[in-house]
Order: sequence, then structure tokens, then C-alpha cells
Amino acid sequence: MNVSSKINLLNFKNYEELSLQFSAQLNCIVGPNGSGKTNLLDAIHYLCLTKSAFNAQDTQSIRHGSEFFLIDGTFQEEDKKHQITISMKVGGRKVVMYDKKAYERISEHIGRFPVVLIAPDDTDLVRDSGEIRRKFFDGMLSQIDHEYLDNLIQYNTILKQRNSLLKQFYERNYFDKELLETYNVLLLPLGYALHQRRKTFMEGFAPVFRQHYQYLSESREEVDLIYESELFEENFEYEFSYATRRDLQLQRTTKGVHKDDYVFEIDRYALRKFGSQGQQKSFVIALKLAQFDVIRQAKGQKPLLLLDDIFDKLDDMRISKLLEMISKDTFGQLFITDARPERTKQLFGQSSIEMAIFQM
Ligand SMILES: Nc1ncnc2c1ncn2[C@@H]1O[C@H](COP(=O)(O)OP(=O)(O)O)[C@@H](O)[C@H]1O
Ligand SMILES: [Mg+2]
Repeated sequence: MNVSSKINLLNFKNYEELSLQFSAQLNCIVGPNGSGKTNLLDAIHYLCLTKSAFNAQDTQSIRHGSEFFLIDGTFQEEDKKHQITISMKVGGRKVVMYDKKAYERISEHIGRFPVVLIAPDDTDLVRDSGEIRRKFFDGMLSQIDHEYLDNLIQYNTILKQRNSLLKQFYERNYFDKELLETYNVLLLPLGYALHQRRKTFMEGFAPVFRQHYQYLSESREEVDLIYESELFEENFEYEFSYATRRDLQLQRTTKGVHKDDYVFEIDRYALRKFGSQGQQKSFVIALKLAQFDVIRQAKGQKPLLLLDDIFDKLDDMRISKLLEMISKDTFGQLFITDARPERTKQLFGQSSIEMAIFQM
């Protein structure tokens, strides 16, 4: 199993300098609001996935007024140690190093140290647009399947190029069918490969998810996850080329796997519209626990689990279910933030789990 044993931060978000050693089991990060608990989880997230879980731009993680940030972490893998260093300079490029050697392609790092984050704004998965759900499933697949990640990166690159070509046609008022076709022949097979993987992934994921939901909610309602894609249509290729005129008008590619979505249902109705708040919370936590399970299965190791402020957001029943899982050794290394240290101590005080507390 991989554990994060040490971390050093320089100019990362609110931290000018920080050095910590973690427990291989349970790490509780306590402190008042705004003290940097979530930021510390985000630094661990960076070490695993080379990016922030919360900020789209890396520069947003540079401490205000500084020129750079540096995250340096040590992971213990059986009897080997690995050092991950991530740095970002204002106006520069992000550099990710594995045992002192910089990656040529940062994406190679994804999946080496698997991680799952459960955070308060996860319910956005229910309420927001399809983009956030695609990102969630893409992120999960990327951690377990490198070919998928490579295909996804290529697809997005070609999609971008195709879109700027459409824009160019529009602005210069001309159309070159053959030139557009050269992009189509690259885009379509990649789209089909992504679609196929998403489809087979969901077949394995949905039952694991349903089990977690039932366990958490102790309820009889039926929940379901449905993968929706235009590529299920038999004549998709025809539809794709038929949409060219519309693509030209809108200056973007209107059909393809970048439009896929995942529908969340409860008793056959849309969870977003008909699920109670409690049901929505259980739903997203079940999604995350299922994510933990499928990653563990695919990688043969337990992902790090980052739990951000979950005690505030869950009712007692769901908390006790989670604690039950923690005490049953379901998880590997755990990081939990809590604004109320007494509560954390009380919850874990009696357990036999090795625990470290960090006061921010
Ligand atoms: N790039 C940055 N530079 C300096 N401070 C930052 C930066 N990004 C976030 N912060 C600060 O971090 C603090 C929030 O930390 P956070 O980890 O969310 O706190 P907690 O989770 O303990 O409530 C805020 O005070 C915010 O201003
Ligand atoms: Mg926080």
C-alpha cells in the first residue's frame, strides 16, 4: 500500500512554509475556519493528481505576493520511498518530478498514487451541468486506465483544433470540406473508444454504487446511474456529419462524447428534482465510496482518502456508517479535516487506529 509519509510546502496558498509527517492510518487536521485545513488536503491532492481539486488555474495556488509554490512529498510504497515535487512559477510552466526526474508528460503521473476526495461541494455533482459529472467519471477512469487518459487528452486536443477551424471558416467566410474531414477522421475513432470504455466502466460501477447507497441510507428506494451518449445511436456518424452546417453556424462541434452525461435517478425520477437533501448527500457519498472501491480493485491498492469537513454535512446516522467503515479497516490512509477538534477526538478517541492530530 502507498502512504503519504511527509509533506513540505513553500508558498502554497496560505502556507509560507510547512513541514509535516503523517500517520500511515488516520490523520486529523483540525483548526478554525480559514486556517488552511482544506488547503493542506489540496496539497496532497496535487501530489497524487498533479492539480488542485478546487482551483482551475495552478497560479491560484501560489501564495499571494509570492513568485512560486513548491510541494514536496514523500510516499512510502512497501519498502521503497518515492519523492514527488511539484513547482509552479508565475509566468512559468508547472514541473512535476518523480524521484528527482521531471516528467515529460505530466499525465504519466496520474494513477501512480490513487486518491479519492469527499468534499462539501460534491453535491454540485447532482445540481450542476453535465461537465462536472463527465469530469468526475473521466477523473476516475484516468486513474485506472492510462489508455483512456491518453485518448481523452488526444480527443480534447483535436476537438479544440476542429473548433478553431470552424471559427476560422466562419470569420473568413469560406468552407473547406476536405480540411474539416481530416479532423473528423481523427475525432470519430477516439470518440468511439472513449464511449466504449465509459459504457463498460458503468456496467461494473453502477452495482457497486447501488450497494453503497443501500448501506448508507438503509432505505428501500431504488437508485440508478445511467450513462447517456449520442454515440449509442446507430446512425451517429451520419448525424455527426449532418450537423456540419450547425457546427459552422455555432463555430463549435455540437455532437460527440464531449456531450455525454450521467443521469442520477431515484425511484426512476431525476434525483436533482425529486431527491431530498439527505438522499442527494447519500447519493454523492455512495458515488465516492464506489469510486474508492473500483480504484482499489483496479490498482490492487487502497487509494488515499481525503475527507473534507464531512462531519458538518452529514447527519449522525451517515456519520456512524462511515465510522463503522473506518473502524472495520475498510480504508487505507485517511485524512480528515474538522473545525471542531473535540468532536474528532471523541469520535476516534476509543478506536485502536493509529492517529495523528494536526492543529492548524
Ligand atoms: N493563493 C493564496 N494565497 C494566500 N492565501 C490563500 C490563497 N488561496 C487561499 N488562501 C487562503 O486560505 C484560507 C482558506 O484556507 P482553507 O484551507 O480553505 O481553510 P479551512 O479549510 O481551514 O477553513 C483563506 O484565508 C484564503 O484566503
Ligand atoms: Mg475547509
